[in-house]
Amino acid sequence: MKYLVGALGAVTVLALAAVAFIYSGIFNVSAKEPEASITTWALRTTMEQGVQRRASQASVPTQFSAVQVRAGARAFGHECAICHGAPGVPREAWAKSMNPMPPDLAKAAPRWSPAELHWIIRNGVKMSGMPAMSDHHSDEELWSIVAFVKALPQMTPATFQALAPNQSDAAGHDH
Ligand code: HEC
Repeated sequence: MKYLVGALGAVTVLALAAVAFIYSGIFNVSAKEPEASITTWALRTTMEQGVQRRASQASVPTQFSAVQVRAGARAFGHECAICHGAPGVPREAWAKSMNPMPPDLAKAAPRWSPAELHWIIRNGVKMSGMPAMSDHHSDEELWSIVAFVKALPQMTPATFQALAPNQSDAAGHDH
């Protein structure tokens, strides 16, 4: 009984300290303030594990067609390049000041499976700025974007320009 009272007391003190911390305004919410490495690790690992766990339920098309890659390239040029950049298209200057910064997907995408990419693009990522795309895209359109993202690492600026003409103006004001 004594231990139980002690434990409850400790939990109450911790909860009150957490609430006091929240109301104190001590935590600096500036996006310019780099995160402590433990915070970055906790957020990133939570994100990766959460995506992997849920993505396994998607049924993945057996292969992607050139038509899908082209459709995906156009959607990507309109809606993604602004933050992530595309071959020959730098992201907007302000996207580099986001915290976390949207990664270059030619480098970041190969580590995700098609099902995981589909999940991320469909649902977005909480507390990061990565938007959910499912409200204005059908599942089929989302798979086209996945097809394009999978093709990204090998894609030259010329191929991207051919697939999605005149997209260099959509983003690409990198100062
Ligand atoms: C407003 C900016 C913004 C837009 C627009 C945006 N994203 Fe993102 N995206 C982010 C940010 C920020 C992250 C990093 C999330 C993190 O680190 O947890 C991210 C992460 C991702 C990731 C995971 C990569 C990784 O390993 O961190 C993928 C895949 C992705 N975005 C695809 C897309 C696609 C495809 C589109 C367009 C349909 C898109 N994003 C549009 C900001 C954006």
